[in-house]
Amino acid sequence: MRGKFITLEGIDGAGKSTHHGWLVDALRQRGITLVATREPGGTPLGEKLRGLLLTESMHLETEALLMFAARREHLDKLILPALERGDWVLSDRFSDASFAYQGGGRGLSREKLETMEAWVQGDLRPDLTLLFDVPTEVARARLAAAGNSPDRFEREQQEFFERVRLAYLDRAQREPRRIVRIDATRPVAEIRVELEKVLEMLWR
Ligand code: TMP
Repeated sequence: MRGKFITLEGIDGAGKSTHHGWLVDALRQRGITLVATREPGGTPLGEKLRGLLLTESMHLETEALLMFAARREHLDKLILPALERGDWVLSDRFSDASFAYQGGGRGLSREKLETMEAWVQGDLRPDLTLLFDVPTEVARARLAAAGNSPDRFEREQQEFFERVRLAYLDRAQREPRRIVRIDATRPVAEIRVELEKVLEMLWR
């Protein structure tokens, strides 16, 4: 049987990475053979493209094309073989991030993004997407408290993240069966209780 494909999304500073590690353990404890990965990245070439994407300034369409180029490689080398073996895949971001960041944040048209999506993915969509949602002020404060030097995206203004957040929320509203919004302003323990419930749905 084909494995399940789960993705995590949210603006920078939403706390997604904290939950990624916990979800990996929670799924493995249930006996799932899981491939944990991320975008942009997940393959040797994809990680090189990530290095460029997070540091070099570039045309917005170059950025979108490189995101999808890394994704093409990711699907071919890692995601599709894993799902076909029956393994599950948990990816820290996937194409919803392109619609939110390059679409909402930078203003690339939905048509262009949908063309790239159809070209690179065909009909493949995640079985479940967890959208970790926080207001942009909360995300900014968390990034500042973490104290890491910000990458090219994290250096964007708050208005950019407002647009990214709205694009994510819009997608969640359009696809309520696939995208589950998690209120990530709550304490981690409370979020985990909700995540446990959401995971249960995957066995039904
Ligand atoms: P990360 O910090 O969650 O690992 O993601 C790296 C950055 O890449 C993050 O700021 C969001 C951005 N990104 C896009 O702009 N478009 C995409 O398609 C993906 C996958 C990530």
